[in-house]
Amino acid sequence: EQAEKNGYDHFMLKEIHEQPAALLKTMTGRFNKESMTVDFEELQWSDEFIAQWNKITIVACGTAYHAGLIGKHVIEELTRIPVDVEVASEFRYRRPIVNEKTLVIVVSQSGETADTLAALRQSQHLGANVLAITNVVGSSIAREADEVILTMAGPEIAVASTKAYTTQVLTFYLLGIYLAQRKHTVSEDYSRQLLQSVIEIPSKIEEILEHSKGIRWYSESIKDATSVFFIGRGLDHAVSLEGSLKLKEISYIHSEAYAAGELKHGTLALVEEGTPIIALITQDEISEKMLGNIQEVKARGAQVLGVATEGNVNIWEYVDQSCYIPCTHSAVTPLLTVIPLQLISYYTSLALGNDVDKPRNLAKSVTVE
Ligand code: G6P
Repeated sequence: EQAEKNGYDHFMLKEIHEQPAALLKTMTGRFNKESMTVDFEELQWSDEFIAQWNKITIVACGTAYHAGLIGKHVIEELTRIPVDVEVASEFRYRRPIVNEKTLVIVVSQSGETADTLAALRQSQHLGANVLAITNVVGSSIAREADEVILTMAGPEIAVASTKAYTTQVLTFYLLGIYLAQRKHTVSEDYSRQLLQSVIEIPSKIEEILEHSKGIRWYSESIKDATSVFFIGRGLDHAVSLEGSLKLKEISYIHSEAYAAGELKHGTLALVEEGTPIIALITQDEISEKMLGNIQEVKARGAQVLGVATEGNVNIWEYVDQSCYIPCTHSAVTPLLTVIPLQLISYYTSLALGNDVDKPRNLAKSVTVE
């Protein structure tokens, strides 16, 4: 096992560091550098087939569900097709509105999650075309889906998912650009620009990983907290749900992620002197709103870590600690902001002496209900 960890103390840390390579592998062969277009050879859809979808439904569990939440933002923005995201265990026990005009996308690292597999079968029964985004070739979900896009994350051992999540999110960016190019829903310039930003992500993750010392110190400062809150808007909110799940899973600290605009509707009552809050602020159009939310929680005594894009906002003027991700297109920041959040949960779990790779009560793959 020590040899498999390749010099890292835990599989989770190894897998965090494998992300640049896993992302590169997942994008390899799926875009054309000259024409700057995305191509999924594995997808057999004609233009007419694509044109008939009036809705996309993404179904998944856990971290894969969180990847789907980013997928919703990306696909809606690029194609203007409405996208629902549902937890598989909820989807399967109601009468979902899914039919031959719906594309259902199931997302699963293992390809074996019982609820996700049931949702896939139910969707096919209702007449929908099902695309699976999975990491395991030959898995039940890969075998039964109508179409499959494989993420190339390689084996993920740590229960807390990291590289599977980022490769799933990357796949949604590529798929969004692919559909937009097929449907001509955004300008060629815009889709090229976005693809270029996606291509640059792996090297930017390397940069974050090289400068991660400050994150270790921050984790020491929250390890005795009873609650940690994450706030953000738009894509930042979607990624903060994943950051919060990671922290709960391996540090066992209670944590919640809130859409920052919802603070006033309840959560603000929980903020007291010293409450740690991690605020994500990478979305240019709504950064003023986020700064307002940060001031609200600071006024109640919160200790705020601000995670922002380099060169954008002078976040340090508003927060107690700051963490920067390299400059990038604001539509692709989730692939970068999640990295410090993964590291915060890793180092907090480590500081608490927990079993990082095998957290209590949790399994890597949930094949029974
Ligand atoms: C378990 C794992 C999570 C994973 C979820 C869905 O809860 O601990 O890391 O996100 O199952 O698994 P899947 O294999 O379907 O992505």
